[in-house]
Amino acid sequence: MEYSSQINLAILGSGAGTNAHAICRAARMPNSSFCVSLLITTSAKSGVRNVAREFGLECVVLSRTSDVVNLENELLSCLREWGIDVLALAGYMRLLPVSVINALGGRVLNIHPALLPHFGGPGMYGMRVHEAVLASKASESGATVHVVSEHYDEGHILGQQTVAVLPGNSPELLQQMVKAVEHELYSTVIQSYCSTLLAYNDVETDSENSGSLL
Ligand code: GRF
Repeated sequence: MEYSSQINLAILGSGAGTNAHAICRAARMPNSSFCVSLLITTSAKSGVRNVAREFGLECVVLSRTSDVVNLENELLSCLREWGIDVLALAGYMRLLPVSVINALGGRVLNIHPALLPHFGGPGMYGMRVHEAVLASKASESGATVHVVSEHYDEGHILGQQTVAVLPGNSPELLQQMVKAVEHELYSTVIQSYCSTLLAYNDVETDSENSGSLL
């Protein structure tokens, strides 16, 4: 057995890919505690594919299927094949199968575009989140990075960043303002999360098994 000097991270998302881009950029910083070796998406049209191209990384497009078992198996085998230690969700709208969370020892993170525990849960994604925040007349919103559990948006919170909501803000403007803080927040939390894993030697790699934890 040997200990790794960087955490091997994969990103799973099907949106515009702006968080994936920020995370890949952070991974290239000197002394980064993690590297990104794989991007995964469920949509061939996702911006995540362009991010993979820009950074010269592998991108796996999971089959477009409503069969949860197939998706789960595909995901598990690609995480295993690439020896992934930590999975970062960035624009993945479905509930992640518990088997995937367990296979990674719970090392799955997500970013949500509001201040959890408020404005989260089933159906709370995309513009709906910002519309709900504005309808509540809350004076602030923001972004939350949390550990992924078997329930939507309920895992342990690792970091939050607030933004002020001003009278007359539209959902689109609020989305833009929240996204602007998401990138820095997510990258910073991932750096520190991976540093902690390395410091506590929580991630051991087996040199004969390409570092796979699975
Ligand atoms: C972000 O707003 C994130 O909070 C949510 O999905 C969106 C993904 O955006 N989970 P992008 O694909 O990273 O641009």
